[in-house]
Amino acid sequence: MATYEQIFDKNRAWVEKMKGTDPDFFEKLAADQQPDYLYIGCSDSRVPANEIMGLEPGELFVHRNIANLVNNSDLNVMSVILYAVVHLKVKHIIVCGHYNCGGVKAAMEPKDMGLLNPWLRNIRDVYRLHHDELNAIKNQQARYDRLVELNVLEQATNVIKTAAVQKCYLATGFPIVHGWVFDLHTGILKDLEINFVKILKDIQEIYDLTSTRSEFGEGSSDGNNI
Ligand code: CO
Repeated sequence: MATYEQIFDKNRAWVEKMKGTDPDFFEKLAADQQPDYLYIGCSDSRVPANEIMGLEPGELFVHRNIANLVNNSDLNVMSVILYAVVHLKVKHIIVCGHYNCGGVKAAMEPKDMGLLNPWLRNIRDVYRLHHDELNAIKNQQARYDRLVELNVLEQATNVIKTAAVQKCYLATGFPIVHGWVFDLHTGILKDLEINFVKILKDIQEIYDLTSTRSEFGEGSSDGNNI
């Protein structure tokens, strides 16, 4: 474990290493970013996004929070998705969870977690949505692993519910949304192979945001009433 002072020595060593592989590395880095991928993952220190994907600085736009949640009233994650889709024009959005996620585990325990309650509530809601499947799993660890996967599925679905993703996909065929789980025991990334097109089609029955016109109130005197 590095001490606070050692961090700066490590930074200098990293700078030299990067210059050693490409003398212009930092000039190129400062010029622009054109990442093809947006990664939404857990804040857990054991899941470093760039490293596990083998990507260099500039190749991955990243958002991390406890238990990789995509909450529609979270201005942070919603801004990241909008910026990544509309301005960076990323081709792929990845929601990546991980087994042994402390946030998911906490949500499985019947306990008051204080300020974390509203955040973890999102995971408890995932449990409620998939109650029958989860309760049929008798092994506690297997149920925990499955909730990690179902949480990824639901958060990826939340990404697909956004207007930015729906409109951009309709216009360009991108971005594609993926769900992954990282296994801390093996280091392997597992693609849950969620069916992006099917989820998009299914949710658009209710969450279709591709039209700018509204059948409610447009041009009428009731237009300002929500
Ligand atoms: Co976690």
